[in-house]
Amino acid sequence: MTGLYLTKQEEAALNGEKGEAVKIAMEVIVKVGEALGAGRLIEINHAHISGISYNNIGEPGLKFIENIRSKGARFTVPTTINPIGVDLEDPAGIPGATREFIMKQKQVIDNLAAMGAKPVMTCTPYYVDEVKPGWHLAWGESSAVAYANTYIGAWTNREGGPLALMAAIAGRTYYAGVHIPENRIPRTVFTVHGYTNDQAVASVIGSIVARETKYKQPMIEGVEGIREPEIKTMCAAAGAAGNLEMCVIPGITKVDTSKTAIEEKVDIEQNDLEAELDQYRPTERPDVVFIGCPHVGIEELEEAAKLAISHGGQARNHFWIATSRNVYNKALQLGLVEKLRERNIRVLRDTCIVVSPGWRETGYTVATNSYKTMFYLKRIHGLKAYMAPLRELIDLSLR
Ligand code: F3S
Repeated sequence: MTGLYLTKQEEAALNGEKGEAVKIAMEVIVKVGEALGAGRLIEINHAHISGISYNNIGEPGLKFIENIRSKGARFTVPTTINPIGVDLEDPAGIPGATREFIMKQKQVIDNLAAMGAKPVMTCTPYYVDEVKPGWHLAWGESSAVAYANTYIGAWTNREGGPLALMAAIAGRTYYAGVHIPENRIPRTVFTVHGYTNDQAVASVIGSIVARETKYKQPMIEGVEGIREPEIKTMCAAAGAAGNLEMCVIPGITKVDTSKTAIEEKVDIEQNDLEAELDQYRPTERPDVVFIGCPHVGIEELEEAAKLAISHGGQARNHFWIATSRNVYNKALQLGLVEKLRERNIRVLRDTCIVVSPGWRETGYTVATNSYKTMFYLKRIHGLKAYMAPLRELIDLSLR
C-alpha cells in the first residue's frame, strides 16, 4: 500500500509483475515520492545517470550496478551516462589512469551499457540525444539538470545517480519539485549590469545567484544576447554553488512569467562581476589549463582553435579540453582536433578531471574558465585552482 496514486500498470510493476528489477526500481521511486509528498508518478522520456566514475563509486558502486543488472534490469527509456575517470581511447598521461582503474571503470560502463545505456560518457547528454521542450526527465548531473530546465524547457529534478538509474528502469519518476509548473515560477530577480558574453563571466553570475538567492527560482535579467555556451557554464556554476535546479532567463526559459511573484530583487553591478573574477584570476602560469566543464560543443572547440591559431605559439603547460565522444568525432572530421594538437592542446573524451583519480597527488595548479571545475578541484582534490576567460588562459599558456 502506498499513499501515492498509481495507475493499474504501475501497481502491477510495484507488485513484481514486470520482474524483480522493475519491482525494486518502483519501490525506490515510490518511497522517495512519498517522502517528498508527491501525489503520483510521471512517465519520463529520458534518463541520465551521474556518479559513474569508479573513482567516486568504488567497489560498492560497481557491485550495486552489477547486482541490479543481475536481476534482469533493462532501461526502458533512452539513457545516457556521465563522464568517467579516464579517456578510454587515449588514457596516456591522465593522472591515476592505472590498468586496474581502467579495468574497473570499463566494468562499470559494460554493466550500464548491457542495461541499455548509451556508452557516450558525458555531462552534456543533450548533445547526444535530442531532448524536447516539455519532456519530463530523470537526470542526475546538476549542470545538465539546470540546462534542461533553463534552456531546453524540459522538466527534471536533480536526481542522485542511483535514483536516475531506478527511474531509467521504471520509466517514470515521482511528480514533485520542478515537474510541477507552480514550482518553476520565479520569486527572486537578479538584474545584471554590464554583461558581456564570456563563459567565466557567466560562471561568476551563476555562482553569485546560487549563493545569494533566498527563494527558488531566480530570474536573471540583463543578460540579453547570452549564448548557449554561456548558459551552459552559468547553469553549471549555479548547480555547484547552490542547489538550484534552474534559473529563469526572460525570453529563453519556458516559464509562465505572468504568474511571477517577485519577493526579492538584487542588482549585480559590473564592478561586482569584475571584483569576483579578479579574485579567481591566475597569479602564475598553471600546470594545467582545463576547459570543458560542462563538456564543450563544436562551437566552443571552434572558438578555442580560432583563438589559439590567432594567438600563435604552443601551450607550454598541459592544456586539456574535455568533450563527449560524439562531439570529438565531429571535431576530428572538421580538423579541429588536429588544429588544436598543433598548438599542444589536447582534446579528451569521456572524462573530466573532477571525477578522475590521482589529481590530489599531482599537486598541480589548474586554471579553467568554469566555476564548477574550480570549486570542485579545491574541494575534492585540494588543488590550487584559478578561473579566467578562455582568451586570457590561451594568452597565459601560449605566451
Ligand atoms: Fe561535467 Fe565534470 Fe564539469 S562532469 S559539469 S566536466 S565537473
